[in-house]
Amino acid sequence: MIPTIVSTWPHGLSANRAAWPILSARDGDGSAMDAVEAAVRHVESDPDVRSVGRGGYPDRLGRVTLDAAIMDDAFRCGSVAALEGVVHAVSVARAVMERSEHALLAGDGALEFALSVGFERERLLTADTLALYEAKQREARAGTPNFESHDTVVSLAVDPSGHIAGASSTSGLMNRLHGRVGDTPIIGSGLYVDGEVGAAGATGHGELAMRVAASALVVERMRCGASPLDACRSVIDMIRDRLSPRPDQQLALLALTTKGEVAAAALLPGFAYAQSDAEGHRMVSVEA
Ligand code: GLY
Repeated sequence: MIPTIVSTWPHGLSANRAAWPILSARDGDGSAMDAVEAAVRHVESDPDVRSVGRGGYPDRLGRVTLDAAIMDDAFRCGSVAALEGVVHAVSVARAVMERSEHALLAGDGALEFALSVGFERERLLTADTLALYEAKQREARAGTPNFESHDTVVSLAVDPSGHIAGASSTSGLMNRLHGRVGDTPIIGSGLYVDGEVGAAGATGHGELAMRVAASALVVERMRCGASPLDACRSVIDMIRDRLSPRPDQQLALLALTTKGEVAAAALLPGFAYAQSDAEGHRMVSVEA
């Protein structure tokens, strides 16, 4: 099995590069689970990525709350919602999966759990993101708000043993109400993995993915025989036709099969993902 990793948006390219040595370890022992966690951690650490981890967008109260999830090919999963003060939300999600009896922890409980298993608390709101946030608030007061930018990182990987895994992390959309949770930590909406079929993840306006359990739907359609491209496109078409999204609302779906086939579809132009495999590291643009 030739390993493959895909990660959403341009920040996915450096994420894939960071994860590649793990996935393609010379002894053939590369782990998809370790690779997707490493890819997402890389983006969470980057203060210039405004929608994930450190430097992520705050909510309307000015608080940076993070959502993240991770899932393996045996339906084991963990996620955190509205987690504050811990940069590597994806690793807390993995700890929920591996070190608790639960699948999802939220808010103060997620933070208490993270601290109890050794994560450190730190400030995530950077001066740059605060300045951007205040500028957006001024725009909103002037009647020209533009809050439609939320570029969740989703990484999906299949390793040399054929194991597949997925992980995701986001701070959610900028002007969200305090307490809003998006699709990212909701297994089946923002992320889903079936070890016999493949994996899928969502980025963009989370409420659209949540209303149809978009990632599970993509994987289920692949399980019923659809190609990854047909599965992603058919779910995007359904969202466009039946949910009537606003013209500025983006949603993109990315899928990877256990055989290493990759596809994506999006409501709007502009979505791209990074793909790394035997042919190297590259960006792939997706037509809407
Ligand atoms: N897709 C990320 C969010 O809506 O929060």
